[in-house]
Amino acid sequence: MTKGWTKTDWRAKPRIQMPDYPDQAALTAVEAQLAKYPPLVFAGEARKLKKQLALAAEGKAFLLQGGDCAESFAEFSADNIRDTFRVMLQMAVVLTYGAKVPVIKVGRMAGQFAKPRSAPTEVINGVEMPSYKGDIINGFDPTPEARVADPQRMLQAYTQAAASLNLLRAFSTGGFADIHRVHSWTLGFAEHDKAERYRELSNRISDALDFMNAAGVNAETAHTLATVDFYTSHEALLLEYEEALCRIDSITGQPVAGSGHMIWIGDRTRQPDGAHVEFARGVLNPIGLKCGPSTTAEDLKVLMAKLNPANEPGRLTLIARFGAGKVGEHLPRLIKTVQQEGANVVWSCDPMHGNTIKSSTGYKTRPFDSVLREVREFFAIHKAEGTIPGGVHFEMTGKDVTECTGGLRAVTDEDLSDRYHTACDPRLNASQSLELAFLVAEELTTLRGAARRVAL
Ligand code: PEP
Ligand code: CO
Repeated sequence: MTKGWTKTDWRAKPRIQMPDYPDQAALTAVEAQLAKYPPLVFAGEARKLKKQLALAAEGKAFLLQGGDCAESFAEFSADNIRDTFRVMLQMAVVLTYGAKVPVIKVGRMAGQFAKPRSAPTEVINGVEMPSYKGDIINGFDPTPEARVADPQRMLQAYTQAAASLNLLRAFSTGGFADIHRVHSWTLGFAEHDKAERYRELSNRISDALDFMNAAGVNAETAHTLATVDFYTSHEALLLEYEEALCRIDSITGQPVAGSGHMIWIGDRTRQPDGAHVEFARGVLNPIGLKCGPSTTAEDLKVLMAKLNPANEPGRLTLIARFGAGKVGEHLPRLIKTVQQEGANVVWSCDPMHGNTIKSSTGYKTRPFDSVLREVREFFAIHKAEGTIPGGVHFEMTGKDVTECTGGLRAVTDEDLSDRYHTACDPRLNASQSLELAFLVAEELTTLRGAARRVAL
């Protein structure tokens, strides 16, 4: 891909948001060990995802990316993986119906362990200690000892990612993902007395499935109704881990990040001359780039040239995360830059990270209505600009947690303490995630209606 690039080049660039490991010898030993392990994903899969994302850039597919803000060692279980996978499949069916195009499913899973933080240290009960940086780096417990960066954690993260992927691959092809099963769970949701608004759409999906079944198209006769392609992604923040899992694709001879199918660069680490951009530019995987309010047109221009010099379709996904009420101020100017450069990108919307507030009860939360509002603004602006909203990016879980407020089951500020389990940012729970999928599907249906009228 990038001539002359090597996987260690990032080491000569400014290093931010990464830990300073006190025990360098232990770090080197872990890196050597990881470098010998098999990659978690294969280059052919990353290339296939890139092809699918190329379709999303044209409006012929739609990206659904979602999962934990931070995966944790303590919350690791088959049930948690299954539940998040299940709700993502449900969302995908609803979105497919709304968009009438295939939905590309990408989990923030099997590698989403490292977190950028707003401050390197924090004070808890009067004691200053390093901030928690995600389970792959240090411990969550609020003690200075737990917060020391420990390279052994990379090995545990690798093991957890491998086991997660193994289960996800089994769920994807072993019968769990049968569209009829998936939709039957959604019918359960739509029976909720406050879900009336969603019942019609879910009944229409039932009708479509019944019709196909009558015509002989079902999970037995059509492979695509029984299995799914499911991809993994994470923020490539901890570059020692990424470098150790970087491999050479035997078919193209190009370097590939073996840690996940898609990797992204966070809003805090997207300096055009920084270490994170340097690493990402050299691997063939699809790359996500978070774009927040401080993203300048000039930076975006340089970043697009660095990350996608050949303007390859599907290579670059711009993940807009401005906050409700701010999309109108920022998205049009970035769309203009993309158009001026003639750049090929997928536009995705992360309505989570610009909408984090502190609740009256002291919890970090996100109101469902703000999340929805940002998605609607994102769609409205693309419609006005004549560009394509290619996907959405959520922090969510299949569990019934109380971390974001609102939704049809109306989580209140007072409820937040009940089941607040996230290791980092607040996630949509299963019901809120599915409800959002219905609302996004409505937006997609409207958009399609408008496009059809133009075509006629
Ligand atoms: C995240 O996706 O968890 C994150 C930290 O996002 P951002 O870089 O957009 O703030
Ligand atoms: Co987050």
